[in-house]
Amino acid sequence: MKDIREIGEPVFSSGLENIYFSETKLCYIDGENGRLYYLGIPIEELADNSTFEESSYLLLYQKLPNKEELENFDRKLRENREISEILLKEEELIPKNAHPMDVIRTIVSFNGMLDEKATSRNEEELLEKANKLIAMLPTIVAYFHRIRNNLNTVKPDRELNHAGNFLYMLRGEKPSDIEIEIFDKTLILYLEHGMNASTFSAIVTASTQSDIYSSITSAIGTLKGPLHGGANEEAMKMLFEIDEKYNGDVEKYLKEKLARKERIMGFGHRVYKAYDPRARILKNLALKLADYTNNRKWIDMQIQLEEKAGPILGEKQIYPNVDYYAASIYYMLKIPFDLYTPIFAIARIVGWISHILEYWKSSGRLIRPREKYIGELNKPYIKINERR
Ligand code: CMC
Repeated sequence: MKDIREIGEPVFSSGLENIYFSETKLCYIDGENGRLYYLGIPIEELADNSTFEESSYLLLYQKLPNKEELENFDRKLRENREISEILLKEEELIPKNAHPMDVIRTIVSFNGMLDEKATSRNEEELLEKANKLIAMLPTIVAYFHRIRNNLNTVKPDRELNHAGNFLYMLRGEKPSDIEIEIFDKTLILYLEHGMNASTFSAIVTASTQSDIYSSITSAIGTLKGPLHGGANEEAMKMLFEIDEKYNGDVEKYLKEKLARKERIMGFGHRVYKAYDPRARILKNLALKLADYTNNRKWIDMQIQLEEKAGPILGEKQIYPNVDYYAASIYYMLKIPFDLYTPIFAIARIVGWISHILEYWKSSGRLIRPREKYIGELNKPYIKINERR
């Protein structure tokens, strides 16, 4: 592989498409064949056999943990769930109509300000901070959700795993085993995905030798956009629109939307030119949950939309992505729309931190691309009272 500095000439790539700027062992996306691997392990294997906790360890430490390592990591996660009084107060001050993505961006940033050792680059300390951030993010989301609905906050329950505890804190009642299992698998699927926009944001910030909290704050702000993490919320809103405004007529919706050159949310991907493997797993999980909840309405609508869109979008190699079936799963888990993207963040924070740690350990080089200048040169400076 040629380093661009050896080539000399800048290359132009709109949206930085197909540009390598670093090396990684964390994740490989085979976009042509629709395959995804964390640390070389196929995503299907992890979704079938692993847990959020174990897959998080895999990414952060770049190896599968032995029993004792996993127990220690998991125990610390359970211990680190509670947030400080000052953060809780801050959450209470936030307007109740704030988007929860803005809330987590603000609270993570606030939390960073409170850490006197925020800029430490000691690996052990960074892994401690990582564990705390991963553990506390679900609490920040669940507390805000309860506060905005004038409900009592529910304290974390150490008896429950990461997935189960979040659902419990959100709803105030224990979720069933099958709900925990399916939610846990969605977290595994959202954990990591190479150099996507939010991870890139995190790395750009980290590359200036800023701190981990600033990097995560950058990443959360980037994940929020509807072309990235915001798509799962938009995908569920789309299903409601089809139901309410189009009377469930999927074909009419699709035709009108595409005629207006608008996008079908939860479809398409910059890297996958084949079916997103995560969407395939999520589709099966959505079917399982639909059977469990005895409500196939949304999954049936999604399958119909996928079938109708297939011949049209398939020509452009556009297929459902991770956000498509995650949307109906979260709906069936009785999670409000605007928490879908924060849930993406609850999982992806592991990927962000793993990349930051890896980047700091490897080149750590300042990221500074260029823009091709297309303006004029040597224009005269016109004094203000001579301008028209
Ligand atoms: N619906 C309809 N047409 C689409 C879609 C879509 N969802 N996605 C891409 N296209 C069309 C686009 O209009 C363009 O057509 P044409 O060449 O005729 O102008 C062509 O496909 C290429 O689009 P692009 O914008 O150059 O492709 P991109 O690589 O920049 O887009 C994307 C990737 C994810 C931004 C895009 O597919 C999209 O906007 N999808 C909808 C939002 C979404 O679901 N985002 C979640 C992405 S996966 C989770 C994540 O990583 O965050």
